[in-house]
Amino acid sequence: MNAGPKSPVTGTRPEGTRDEAEAARRVHDLFGRIAPRYDLLNHLLSFSLDRTWRTRTARRVCPRLRPGSRVLDVCCGTGDLAFAIERESRRGSRGAQILGGDFVHAMLERARGKAARISSDVQFLAVDALRLPFADATFDLVAVAFGFRNLASYAAGIDEFRRVLRPGGQLAILEFSEPPGPAFGRLYRFYFRKILPVLGGLISGSRQAYGYLPASVARFPSPEDLAERLRVAGFSSVRFERWMGGIVALHLAERALDARG
Ligand SMILES: C[S@@+](CC[C@H](N)C(=O)[O-])C[C@H]1O[C@@H](n2cnc3c(N)ncnc32)[C@H](O)[C@@H]1O
Repeated sequence: MNAGPKSPVTGTRPEGTRDEAEAARRVHDLFGRIAPRYDLLNHLLSFSLDRTWRTRTARRVCPRLRPGSRVLDVCCGTGDLAFAIERESRRGSRGAQILGGDFVHAMLERARGKAARISSDVQFLAVDALRLPFADATFDLVAVAFGFRNLASYAAGIDEFRRVLRPGGQLAILEFSEPPGPAFGRLYRFYFRKILPVLGGLISGSRQAYGYLPASVARFPSPEDLAERLRVAGFSSVRFERWMGGIVALHLAERALDARG
């Protein structure tokens, strides 16, 4: 089960890592290794549900965008959330300026390749989510899909997201979760802990990376806990939705107008 409310978990710690710096290095190496097969594995292992979840996230956040709104997809990987937001925002004639940022070069290269193929205007750049290279209050929306869990410090990530959002700007965090129900939970754990690491390991060539996935989800704070962390950090209107029986959760929040500093 997800680490419960008020869990002491401060950030991801892949097996054998002891501190924040070591964890960040390991996460960086791990995603660098799986980047060439990342999309294939995502779609295969989630039965393509990952696409649905990103589109659904884009649909939740796009109604508040306006022409010229600035959007950051952080921990963007190969860019699929940014592309989903662009698609939705174009559909509603709400052209937004969208940036994707990640600290793994191989992911960004693939994102740029896809952008060229689909004539996307999304720009991609190298960023560390814990030290974002943007001025305060730059963005109207900061969105992150399946990336937040991998941060070596959740508090530092939340503070950075808040800092770069304008007051009243939106935050969206889409992340895996462990389903609360016992029957579905058992099935999920069997697939996620036994099948997925083997399949993912075989196809990506990194058993370690796909063993890390269920382990990192298991120790990730519960949706209630993450919501509380966001409130404490100066976000308002914090809410979350569980999807697919709780396999994933989408957190939505706003940078409070009267937020600290
Ligand atoms: C599971 S992937 C998610 C990618 C993408 N958002 C998606 O929906 O498929 C997690 C991504 O987070 C990135 N990441 C992890 N820690 C990061 C950090 N501190 N700064 C920037 N990117 C980070 C990894 O490089 C990886 O591309």
